Order: sequence, then structure tokens, then C-alpha cells
Amino acid sequence: MIIRWLKRSGVVLLALIALLGLGRLYQVATESLYAGNREPYLQVPTMHSVIIRWQTEADERGVIRYGSAPDKLDQRVIEQTAGEHHEIQLAGLQPDTRYYYAAGNPTEVRYSGDRYRFTTAPTQGSERAVRLWFIGDSGQAGPDAVSVRNAVLTWLDSQPHPYNRKVDLLIGLGDLAYPSGANKDYQAALFDTYAAVLANTPFWAAYGNHDDRRWAYFNIFTLPENGEAGGVASGTEHYYSFDYGAAHVVVLDSQDSDRSIDGEMYQWLKNDLQANEQRWLIVAFHHPPYTKGSHDSDSRRDSRGRMQDMREIFLPLLESHGVDLVLSGHSHMYERSFLIDCHYGSSDSFDSSRIVDHGSGNPALAAPYRKPADAVPHQGTVYVVAGSSSKLDQAPIDHPAMGHSMLELGSVLVDVDAYRLDARFVSSHGEVRDHFRIEKSVDQAARARPACEPPVDR
Ligand SMILES: [Fe+2]
Repeated sequence: MIIRWLKRSGVVLLALIALLGLGRLYQVATESLYAGNREPYLQVPTMHSVIIRWQTEADERGVIRYGSAPDKLDQRVIEQTAGEHHEIQLAGLQPDTRYYYAAGNPTEVRYSGDRYRFTTAPTQGSERAVRLWFIGDSGQAGPDAVSVRNAVLTWLDSQPHPYNRKVDLLIGLGDLAYPSGANKDYQAALFDTYAAVLANTPFWAAYGNHDDRRWAYFNIFTLPENGEAGGVASGTEHYYSFDYGAAHVVVLDSQDSDRSIDGEMYQWLKNDLQANEQRWLIVAFHHPPYTKGSHDSDSRRDSRGRMQDMREIFLPLLESHGVDLVLSGHSHMYERSFLIDCHYGSSDSFDSSRIVDHGSGNPALAAPYRKPADAVPHQGTVYVVAGSSSKLDQAPIDHPAMGHSMLELGSVLVDVDAYRLDARFVSSHGEVRDHFRIEKSVDQAARARPACEPPVDR
């Protein structure tokens, strides 16, 4: 009798668990979709091509008309089949050239005018000044996100030439859609909030923990798994690299990919960095190697050790290839390190021997951080946590590697020139609240640094 009862209740329990699992699966699947209009956004810009994506409520054949001026759209690409999701690659373009486009269907133009334009990537080896705009943890739609966006646009407009030139690329440091990476949340936080920027500024994305909660991210973004925009082919959209101006930009996946030294991401990164010949090396991933913000990089339990993994496993490799700047999000504040090297331990083991350049980094004080012109290992890196583009948390922000930490909403503009990198944190009030510069020079000799060994147990 009892056995029969136990058997029966076991079956009922199993059925209940299966039902809950199915319900969860159904929720994840449906929330990964979005039905509605989505304005055009630009992906994977190269010297000769760009991808334009948009979405329509009804099935239709997408059409892009493009040319050298808004009233001279003399070329056309038409999709072969009708659908709601549109993705058209324009190829055979000239490098570093401005084009205008209009998006629609064979009988109707939906999006047209001056706003719909793009500039192809600078010629390979070109050292044209480029400006990259980094937004971190931008996934909370609302007035704070709008003020962060407006602050940068207003700041750009207020600057004298050449500082008022617009942004070349917009780069998201992960957590693009709160609370759970649902497709409709990307619509609100990214596509509605940044529509006027995305129409003319190619967007690159890094994968955050909130992006990982639904299946929308990889459907929404086209990312280069075959080295389409420079760098070594990664074979996955989770992590990749590209060249732009004098910069080589690497985007890693600190969330979902294998972070071990034998893992495919590490091995790919090794090959990619070995092949790189660009002067500046900029790296972006979501989980910061150093933070005392919303998250604590000292805690192995915090974020399941992802911050510690990135610090102990990936930083030694990046620093041995002379990485200049690393940007992350995850903590909803701004933290910016000194020019540092070879710190792979917890915050209490940080000491001044890790600081490579005691110059302030502040260009107003005529004391930029200085590095040799060629990529020399271990000449110092600035680490930035910029996760306050839509949310702000309270935390001690007292990591000793940080030269400047603030509880302020904002985002980061990075200007990369042939020999100069300027990074500015623009607060939601439109003020530049941090500005550091790294200068590279053939006259700057490589500094002798203490021996730098990665953690032994890694
Ligand atoms: Fe996060």
C-alpha cells in the first residue's frame, strides 16, 4: 500500500517537474522573440562591406537602396524571400567612404533621409583618428539611459572641431537588456533608446550574464566568426576581433565560453594576438578583472569566479602582448585603474610595484601615460569598469588598482589616433568626469619590469 502510494506520488512529482521545465522552456523561447518594427542597425563594418538589419511587423521582401548622397541612392539590393527579419549585406564598397541608404520593401521606402548613412572602415594600416563609444550595462530603458545617451550627443555637438566629430563605432559591454535578455527588452533599452545612433553607427556587442538568460542575443546580432573585419577567425559569435583605424579590438565572452587555458577561446586569443600588427590593442568583456563595485572581483563566489578567471587566466596573456586598454561592465559604476601590470591576485596583494607609470594620466596636467611605440610585453594597461550606462549601485569602489572611481551614470568615449589614445568618461550630466591619455612614442624606451609570472595553479 505504502509502496504503491510512494510510487504514485513519485510519478506525480516527476510529472510536475517536467511540466515546470516545459513551462520555463516555453517562457524562454517566447521571450526570445519579438514581433514588431525595429529600425535599421549596422553590423560588421569592413573596408568594403556593411550589414544592415531591421525588422518589420509583416512579412515582406527587404530592399536597401544606397548611394553617395540621400538623393542619389542609385544602387539596390533586394531580398529573395519575404520575412520579418531583414539582413542585407552591401559589398563592393570603397574604404573610408560615406554612403547613404534607405530601407524598405519593393514598393515602399520605410526609412530614409540624412540619418541613414554609414562610413566604411578605414583602409587597412590607416592610422586615421577613430572614436569608439562604449556603453556598459545599458539594459535598463528609462530616463537614466536616455540622459547617458543625450549627454554624449550633446557633448559631441558642443566641442570645437575636430573633437566634435561623430562616433565611428558603438560598443556594448554586455547586459544590454534587463532584466533577462528578452528580445522586447533589447527593443526598449537598445533599439528604441539608441535608434538615431544605430542608424549610422555600427554596433558591436559583448555577451553579459543578463544577455545569457534568453536566446535573443545571437539572433539579434551578426558578429564575425570568420575574421570578416580583421583578426583571426574565431569560429564563433561568442568572441571575435576586428581592426579599425590603428586599433585591434578583441571582444571576449566572459560569460558562457570555456575560460580555461586549454579552452578554445584562450587558444584562439593566443593566435589572434600573435597575428596582430595594429599599434593599439583594446579588449572588451563583461566581467571586470578588478572591481569593488556592484561585484567584488576578490570573491570566487561572486559571478561563479568569472572575474577571477579573467584576471588570472586571460590578463597574463593580454599583458604579454602589450594590451593598452581593457573595458568591462557588470559593476554599475565607473572605476578606472592606473597604468598597471602583472597584478593577478586579490586586491589586498596590490602594491605600487604594479604601477608602471606614476604619471597622473591626466592630459590637463601634461602627464599622459607613456608607452613604447611597438607592442612590448608588460608596459602597462588601463582597466576600465564602465557599467553605469543605465543603472547605478552603491558600493565601496575602493579597489587599490583604481586611480579614479565614481558612483556616476555615464559612458566612455575612446579616441584612437596613430600614437595617442584619449579616453573620457562623460557623465549623464554631460561633464567629462575622467580623462586619461596614453601616448606611444619611438623615443619611449621599454621599461624594465619585475619578473611577471602568472598564478602557479593556473
Ligand atoms: Fe552583469
